[in-house]
Amino acid sequence: MIALLKAVHIIALALWCAGLILLPVLMQVHGRGQTLRTQAGFTEFRWLTHYSYTAVVTPAAVIAVTAGTILIFALEVFDIWMMAKLLAVTGMVVLHAWLGHLVVKVGESRGTYSLPPVGLSLLAILPLIGVVLWLVLAKPALSEFIALLPEVLTEPRGHAIPIHLNPI
Ligand code: HEM
Repeated sequence: MIALLKAVHIIALALWCAGLILLPVLMQVHGRGQTLRTQAGFTEFRWLTHYSYTAVVTPAAVIAVTAGTILIFALEVFDIWMMAKLLAVTGMVVLHAWLGHLVVKVGESRGTYSLPPVGLSLLAILPLIGVVLWLVLAKPALSEFIALLPEVLTEPRGHAIPIHLNPI
């Protein structure tokens, strides 16, 4: 069962990461050129970005995150590297949402919408994917990093749980 979940997780995240890399390249190269100014060029661009985003990249992201979340509880992986990995994955999710926003803007805005230099997002996407892979494959202890955090983030504060959050 674990092997199957991991296989689903890895296949889905490979598709997700490939999409996060290819979509900015596609939008940068195809979405900012002259071909977009013709009806045929716009239709092709709209079709490619819309269907790759909604039918492949987003479902792959949802499956990768779902399988990963089940794996956390199935394997009881609550280590610091996993929390750091989730933080880096949050960055990937934010960029994923931004790419979706651009797909809608470029496909459905009236008039002349001009895409920002979307290829530059690779400067964030590639390091984030690299950090996630490093964290999950090396599983570093990160104790030096934890030592750098302010005490307020590492020590219990000794306050009572607010009454409305206390289930007892
Ligand atoms: C919310 C999103 C994610 C969650 C909750 C999650 C969670 C997990 C968990 C619990 C494992 C098993 C770890 C172990 O065997 O000790 C795992 C494995 C793995 N994850 Fe994720 N993951 C997520 C996203 C990602 C992403 C975006 C990537 C790549 C960029 C990734 C790459 C991997 C790899 C390569 C493995 C296999 C590691 C191994 O078997 O040694 N994960 N993930």
